[in-house]
Amino acid sequence: MENIKNEGCLFDEKLSEDIKDRFYHVDYDPVHKTERIFFDNAGGALRLKTANDKFKEIDELPDCPEHSNKTAKWLFEIQEKAIEDLKIIYNVKSGSFLTSLTASMVMFDMVGSIIENVPGSNVVTTALEHPSSFDAVTSYAKKYGKEIRIAEANPVTGGIDTEEISKLVDENTCVLSVINASNISGSVIDIESVVKEARKIKPDLYIVCDAVQHMPHNAVDLKKTPVDAMNFAPYKFFGPRGFGIGYMSERASKLPHNKLIAKPVDEWELGSPAAAHFAAVTEIVDYVCWIGSKFATSSDRRELYVEGMKRINLHERALMHRMLNGSDKIEGLRDIKGVKVHLDYDDLSTRDLIMAIEFDNIDFTKAVEEYETEGIIVFERVISSLYSERMLKSLKIDGAVRVSPLHCHTVEDIDKFLIATKKIASK
Ligand SMILES: Cc1ncc(COP(=O)(O)O)c(C=O)c1O
Repeated sequence: MENIKNEGCLFDEKLSEDIKDRFYHVDYDPVHKTERIFFDNAGGALRLKTANDKFKEIDELPDCPEHSNKTAKWLFEIQEKAIEDLKIIYNVKSGSFLTSLTASMVMFDMVGSIIENVPGSNVVTTALEHPSSFDAVTSYAKKYGKEIRIAEANPVTGGIDTEEISKLVDENTCVLSVINASNISGSVIDIESVVKEARKIKPDLYIVCDAVQHMPHNAVDLKKTPVDAMNFAPYKFFGPRGFGIGYMSERASKLPHNKLIAKPVDEWELGSPAAAHFAAVTEIVDYVCWIGSKFATSSDRRELYVEGMKRINLHERALMHRMLNGSDKIEGLRDIKGVKVHLDYDDLSTRDLIMAIEFDNIDFTKAVEEYETEGIIVFERVISSLYSERMLKSLKIDGAVRVSPLHCHTVEDIDKFLIATKKIASK
């Protein structure tokens, strides 16, 4: 048990091969016609073939899902099915969903409605938020004259401790906004304890959660973490770009918001989103359930989904373990001379598969270039970037080369990365 907690569990070879085959361009850049390993999945994940094929197939149809011809009705059913699948993803029975072009747009809509309508003289957020939630909260707080309180990160774990948040919450807090997992450190915040402790202080506190980073790495469960708003981005979760999805709890869904006047009070959709995007959501859920079905027998879609995400998480943990510790033949990141692994600690069960590393001999930008020369795509997070500065300062690091593989990768991919890392470090 202790082994699994820290070492995870790889898919068997056959399943790993099948999984790789279900994704586009895992080992190859079709634009430049070169082999490559894509380890920048926190920026936009490798695409599931069925999700993107289905998107294209559905989007070719001109029919309007709200009209009455047969194909239009069929498209409407696709949307309805996807809403049921979103309920599976979030584990909710009630509430509303909203969509927009990006997860950031969804976040601004959700936060705006809460801050405009929920009483309270302060808002609480964290230093690790992506600018989409941080700026949404701070902009609306400034507009409505509310004090802004910011919980600092734990520079050892790369996360946010529950107490750092709860000490800022009081009976006058309008909203608490907290990220589910950091997109720099991979550290997963204990949302269950954050919600529990914060609502001990203010039982009806509105809580918003950005799950964009975490959603592709493990199942969320709003029965355990009953937040009022949570968003994610299908393009970081194996699907197409151009869609952001948010959930609003029953009470949050009824707060005043932009809507067509004739629509019900809890309706958030404005206009007609593409049925193709909804179809892709169902393909993603089908895929995760397919993995789940390799390990569990159940007719319950949520159970299969949870099992699938659990197995994805365990495989990614095993890749993380390999990346950090290497093998008899290849040194891991923890042992390669000239490489520092930031925000590294023993318990891998509280981390999504993201590594933040630094080289002694070259800066972050140069390191990313060197990796590309070696056929590996990674990304740098540097303090001069508006997307990273606040988080990096709170984490007390100047920057990092962010390495973010996906569960469709294998130990062989990790080993190639480690060999390239050693070569770069010894230049
Ligand atoms: C944690 C996190 N939240 C929110 C976003 C914003 O997503 P989008 O680009 O869809 O607006 C990102 C994108 O990088 C992210 O990593």
